[in-house]
Amino acid sequence: MAEVVVITGGSAGVGRATAEEFARHGCHIGLLARGRERLEAAAQSLRALGVRCHIVPTDVSDAEAVERAASEIEQQLGPIDIWVNDAMVTAFAPVKDLTPEEFRRGTEVTYLGTVHGTMAALRRMRERNRGVIVNVGSALSYRAIPLQAIYCASKFAIRGFTDALRCEILHDALNVHLTMVHLPAMNTPQFDWALNKMDRRPQPVPPIFQPEVAARAIWFAAHHRRREVWVGWPTVEAIIGNKIAPGLLDRYLSSAAYSGQLTNEPKPPNAPANLFEPARGNWGAHGRFDARAKETSWEMWTTRHQGWLALGVLLLSSLGVGAILQGGNRVLNGRGKPRRQLQRIWR
Ligand SMILES: NC(=O)c1ccc[n+]([C@@H]2O[C@H](COP(=O)([O-])OP(=O)(O)OC[C@H]3O[C@@H](n4cnc5c(N)ncnc54)[C@H](OP(=O)(O)O)[C@@H]3O)[C@@H](O)[C@H]2O)c1
Repeated sequence: MAEVVVITGGSAGVGRATAEEFARHGCHIGLLARGRERLEAAAQSLRALGVRCHIVPTDVSDAEAVERAASEIEQQLGPIDIWVNDAMVTAFAPVKDLTPEEFRRGTEVTYLGTVHGTMAALRRMRERNRGVIVNVGSALSYRAIPLQAIYCASKFAIRGFTDALRCEILHDALNVHLTMVHLPAMNTPQFDWALNKMDRRPQPVPPIFQPEVAARAIWFAAHHRRREVWVGWPTVEAIIGNKIAPGLLDRYLSSAAYSGQLTNEPKPPNAPANLFEPARGNWGAHGRFDARAKETSWEMWTTRHQGWLALGVLLLSSLGVGAILQGGNRVLNGRGKPRRQLQRIWR
């Protein structure tokens, strides 16, 4: 039986690449986003892969609309197996230049949108006692950076919400898996259509990865029982680095992440801003950074092949222990000089 998957924000960027990844695996897809034209274009490309697709133009900040969309998708495609909360908005600006309305709106879409999606999915999954919910996070769910306070705060909130709910799911002994995938910088349209109050065009802080890297990680997370999946070495560095030296990172990021998010190109006079309304235009999964974006992440490779790696490490360590014991025996038996023996073991 083909799995039924709902992806919020599935019409562009990471969500669009994720929809294509799941469709290539034969899943039927329900897509939620605001702009109907992009949803229709996405649905067309998914149906061309031979799967069923149902779109529901929805603003995820509206809890009732998300609930209605979930019911409509179940009527059209069947019970939802996997729900991916991907939809987001952000604004590139220092806090001093943002308004309370912009903060409220960004939080309602990025944080509460995830809460609404999770609640609609869990209501159904709880009844059937099965299902998977994947919340898309970021390195910035652990380590906040300047110029993106609205976004970082929402991503932190999603992580808090996810951890609290995971405990409740465990308490209720539900067979529902709730996981979070933390992504590094991605080449998506976000950097062309997000509200930008700076005078230059924004960019993801390099190194930049293609959205297909995220899509494969989200597929992996939906089919393995991992609490979290960290994608890309920069994500690992940010999360671990922040645990070790948060104050040092504050100082480093105050300049590196400030200039790192801005290109030298001036902001176009009529640049779109998708905070309150969807931007117009035929945007797909990729942004404008194809020439600089990486197609793979070795860190994700190690996550996917954790079992084999563990076996390899075990094998190597037992060989090492064997060699030490053998060397030790020779030393004890008086055969060979101790220093030469040790050199042979560690070389
Ligand atoms: N790009 C990165 O560097 C990066 C890094 C780490 C994590 N991530 C995560 O990846 C996910 C996707 O980011 P992205 O860069 O792919 O974003 P994106 O390119 O801006 O795409 C956002 C998607 O969400 C939809 N959307 C926006 N507001 C919505 C609303 N109110 N209701 C429903 N849908 C809405 C958009 O369609 P409409 O505008 O038509 O609604 C679009 O389909 C996010 O969770 C983000 O945190 C991205």
